[in-house]
Amino acid sequence: MMQTAKHIDATPALLIDLPQVRRNIAKLAHYARDHRIKVRPHTKTHKSKFMAGLQIEAGAIGLTAAKVGEAEIMANVSPDILIAYPASDPARAYRMAELAKRVTVRVALDSSEAIRRVGETARSAGSTVGLLVDLDIGFNRTGVATPAASLDLARLISRTKGLRLDGIFFYPGHVWSIGEAQTNELDRIDAILAESIALWSQGGLKAEIVSGGSTPTAYRSHLIPHQTEIRPGTSIYNDMNTARAGFCTLDECAARIVSTVVSTTVPEKAVIDAGTKTLTSDRNVTLPESGHGHVVEYPAAKITRLSEEHGELDVSACDVRPKLGEQVQVIPNHICPCVNLQDEVWLRTEDGAIRPLRVDTRGKLT
Ligand SMILES: Cc1ncc(COP(=O)(O)O)c(C=O)c1O
Repeated sequence: MMQTAKHIDATPALLIDLPQVRRNIAKLAHYARDHRIKVRPHTKTHKSKFMAGLQIEAGAIGLTAAKVGEAEIMANVSPDILIAYPASDPARAYRMAELAKRVTVRVALDSSEAIRRVGETARSAGSTVGLLVDLDIGFNRTGVATPAASLDLARLISRTKGLRLDGIFFYPGHVWSIGEAQTNELDRIDAILAESIALWSQGGLKAEIVSGGSTPTAYRSHLIPHQTEIRPGTSIYNDMNTARAGFCTLDECAARIVSTVVSTTVPEKAVIDAGTKTLTSDRNVTLPESGHGHVVEYPAAKITRLSEEHGELDVSACDVRPKLGEQVQVIPNHICPCVNLQDEVWLRTEDGAIRPLRVDTRGKLT
């Protein structure tokens, strides 16, 4: 029997509104269905088998993980896992090859060394790992720089035993613009994909999967018609990065840090019990000077400074000020690493009850 409550006593705690989560999942599922785009949600945000199950029920075709440890756990929810990370060192390659014996495992790689290593490991394990060629379309983090380089890697994969050529992988992590600026960038990305697919085709190779997607681009994925699937992570909960950039409303932010005011002694300040060990140090992507999150009950308060366990609110602009012992809810700038700091989060269900939910892949960093 699950422990349930009506109120959170011990703070800081991460509270997740389940009805809002369901609405966020349904919104993406409807959009994707309308535009015939497949969804393979990135589980790095929620790190929860329960949440992954809701996404699969809503029509997701598989799941994305960053780390092999996450993939091993999420393989219990879906038999089709993409590791959206250049995992190729011996320890990870071995675990991917072993996992590929029981589910479909795909990984995105960007070098011939990595491809050879994963291929050798899969061959010795007697399994097959699916490979996507990681193509850099502007984020400049991983991926080969040109369509021609992607074809070279695709050729290598197609002749390496133990590997299956599955397609192209890209990540539009640099796209935070809205409106026309975003449209132009998505057009440019689609042109790079079109060129790559055409080159592959001339070389007799097919990119069955073209995997992209992020939360800021999620609802404009149709502007990249050459992609076949998207991997939004953050959109299940949303956060102040998403909200301040204009990609969701505050109501659509389903995850909040419940914290307690622990000091109001310093003039113009209120101090809450959520510091960097709860909110992380992440500044807001588009508005870095906006503070370390949004205080729901006191929108005029600004979280100006964090220590490990203290969050300092400048309350000088608040007509009414938070009182000692009061609980407030904070929407963090970046929800994904906040989730990873919790063993358990709290789920508020439709009937208002609050129950704990394990963060299943918390700390799975390898
Ligand atoms: C490779 C990759 N794909 C997808 C995502 C999901 O992006 P978002 O959290 O904006 O939805 C991320 C986020 O870090 C990523 O690194």
